[in-house]
Amino acid sequence: MKNLPKTRKVKIHHASLKYIKKGHPWITADTFTKKFPKGEEFLQVEENDTKLLLLHDPNHPKIKARVWAFGDGREHRFNFPRELKERLSAAFNRRKEMDVTTDRENFYLVFGEADLIPGLFIQALGSHVLVQTTCNFWVLHKKRIADLVRDLWEEHFPEKKYINGWWSDRDTEAKSRITALKQGTSPPEQITISEFGINYILKPTLAHDPGIYTDMSAIRKKLFPILEESKSVLNLYAYTGAYSLAALKLGAEEVHSVDLSQNYLEWVDENLKENPELDSSKHQSHCLSVEDALKKFKAEGKKFDLIICDPPSASSDGKKMGKASDSYARDLPLMNDLLSEEGHLVVFLNTHNVSWKKFNSNLDEIVKSKSLKLESKEQLRLADDCPLKGGFQEGDYLKGRVFKRLK
Ligand SMILES: C[S@@+](CC[C@H](N)C(=O)[O-])C[C@H]1O[C@@H](n2cnc3c(N)ncnc32)[C@H](O)[C@@H]1O
Repeated sequence: MKNLPKTRKVKIHHASLKYIKKGHPWITADTFTKKFPKGEEFLQVEENDTKLLLLHDPNHPKIKARVWAFGDGREHRFNFPRELKERLSAAFNRRKEMDVTTDRENFYLVFGEADLIPGLFIQALGSHVLVQTTCNFWVLHKKRIADLVRDLWEEHFPEKKYINGWWSDRDTEAKSRITALKQGTSPPEQITISEFGINYILKPTLAHDPGIYTDMSAIRKKLFPILEESKSVLNLYAYTGAYSLAALKLGAEEVHSVDLSQNYLEWVDENLKENPELDSSKHQSHCLSVEDALKKFKAEGKKFDLIICDPPSASSDGKKMGKASDSYARDLPLMNDLLSEEGHLVVFLNTHNVSWKKFNSNLDEIVKSKSLKLESKEQLRLADDCPLKGGFQEGDYLKGRVFKRLK
């Protein structure tokens, strides 16, 4: 141990320490982080009785370090490879013990901060894995993670074949860098996976998100009883059509997908072709902004038993950018008009910038002030393979409410 490098000690703001003690593992940019020594991978904090080991990310625009361990940082620094393996193994084990692996091929093996591996997200996608990170620290450990993931997969899921994986990293909303985990190989152009007996095409090289939102899978399943009783379904911000295909699978007679992107709507068609048992004549795509689609359906006098609205956190209607949280004031009354009696409306918000309290009060206020015939039924949030971490509000980003239209 003699010649091992020392971990440099740094000071952090007392407010950062307060939040860390409550479970929030980020140190965001401030006057203290400006003094962090640039070239260091790990940093150590010693404040009174608290010792921390931090993963340093000097190039991240906002999150300059994440807590790896409480205790003696020096000791943890030198046990980092072992500790990383233990935490990854514990995360894999938790998924193995959940029944998520029995009815879907897409599930999170590692969900970042909630699995005590901050900034690192790993999904199983069929016989592949997708490693996603927005924390540059992990980029330095890509080879180590690739090897560990392959070994742990073989150990925990011997019945599942492991082929390869791909790595996607970005530190801002900028385009991701996507590479294969196995050196000297390329990520596949396209793979097909199954979620709840429905096949989905994924395109790893296209974007940060491969074509299905696995963090929504547990919620999708939770909505099955409502999907089963809905004969006509409107899927707003449909993306590659996960909710549309689930609706068809569960017996809908008429499903409408709305998205601004013709590419994604074509992807919905490709997904339908991968599921020949689904009757694609019951599905219609509408390449429109949600606002325009809602007005069009209203003018046509259409009614739906179920409307699902899952906007991106900030979206464009083709003309201007707007926040999803603001668009509900405009769109909720129209959705209310389009619901059949006792029909369901499921609305999501995908951002940690709006708290649950604000999300709920905003929606309740719109419903009340516009005298909408909506009754609040249930809240939807991340679950199962996507756990939450106490004290870490940013990890609780996916918020949903179920409303039912009153008679
Ligand atoms: C977060 S994804 C929806 C994910 C989807 N609900 C799922 O579970 O797979 C957002 C989608 O909204 C689309 N979009 C963004 N702004 C839009 C708008 N104003 N009107 C219609 N679609 C829009 C994007 O093209 C993208 O496909």
